[in-house]
Amino acid sequence: MMYEKIKATAEYIKSNVYTKPIIGIVCGSGLANIVNIINVEKVLDYSDIPNFPISTVEGHKSKLIFGTIGNKQVVAMQGRFHFYEGYPMQQVTFPIRVMKEIGVEKLILTNSAGGVNPFFNVGDIMIIEDHINLLPNPLIGTNDENLGIRFPAMNKAYSSLLIEKAEQIAREYNIKLRKGVYLGNTGPTFETPAEYKFYHSIGADTVGMSTTPEVIVAIHSKIEVFAMSLVSNVFREDVIEDTTHDEVLQAGKKAEEKIILIVEKLIERI
Ligand code: HPA
Repeated sequence: MMYEKIKATAEYIKSNVYTKPIIGIVCGSGLANIVNIINVEKVLDYSDIPNFPISTVEGHKSKLIFGTIGNKQVVAMQGRFHFYEGYPMQQVTFPIRVMKEIGVEKLILTNSAGGVNPFFNVGDIMIIEDHINLLPNPLIGTNDENLGIRFPAMNKAYSSLLIEKAEQIAREYNIKLRKGVYLGNTGPTFETPAEYKFYHSIGADTVGMSTTPEVIVAIHSKIEVFAMSLVSNVFREDVIEDTTHDEVLQAGKKAEEKIILIVEKLIERI
């Protein structure tokens, strides 16, 4: 039973870690440096944590990091699990269940995503204010009332309070922020031009291969959610040249610093 596994994993963590995190962080790809703002108490490899999915991707970071940011106790996932890697949705979202069980009340998620809003640019940062989930729903299956209700509402998934705080921080530090809708789909293929156009036409601003399952499980668990996309590429019908990898990396580096600042200040003010 899943709840037993969650409890066992939480017990393992509680007996190996002093930190009692109330805030969880999920680092997106290219955003592993978020953990540099953590005053680290303990690092656990996913491979040492009972019931954690076994990471199959070579060279991918896979660590759970415990410590403090300012006076707040936090836990950060450096590396997440994606559906396209072959994990069932319950495993993709298992770490979020464990976070809840060890006391996490607020979750900050980040990802790299493709822009389908033609006004977006490479390197933009977008606060996610809503999503379209085109991955299998992680709550499919018998519902365990210990974990949450059968039919959770998703109309207020992204905390307006945390969005406001982040916008305030961005104003103070002169950081340009976008706000919009993230569409999560399975990958691992990137979209065809027809798919990019379709996703924009149904209301998406960014598309990616993660985040929405974690958000659904966080909401099911009554965890407050804040999420941001780093726009790593933008689909434009009228642009013929490919975006160069270098461009994306450069944009990513600059945006990463800004994302890290927002995460740090947001946690200070939570
Ligand atoms: N599509 C899906 N996922 C992505 C993209 C994209 O264009 N860019 C980064 N992650």
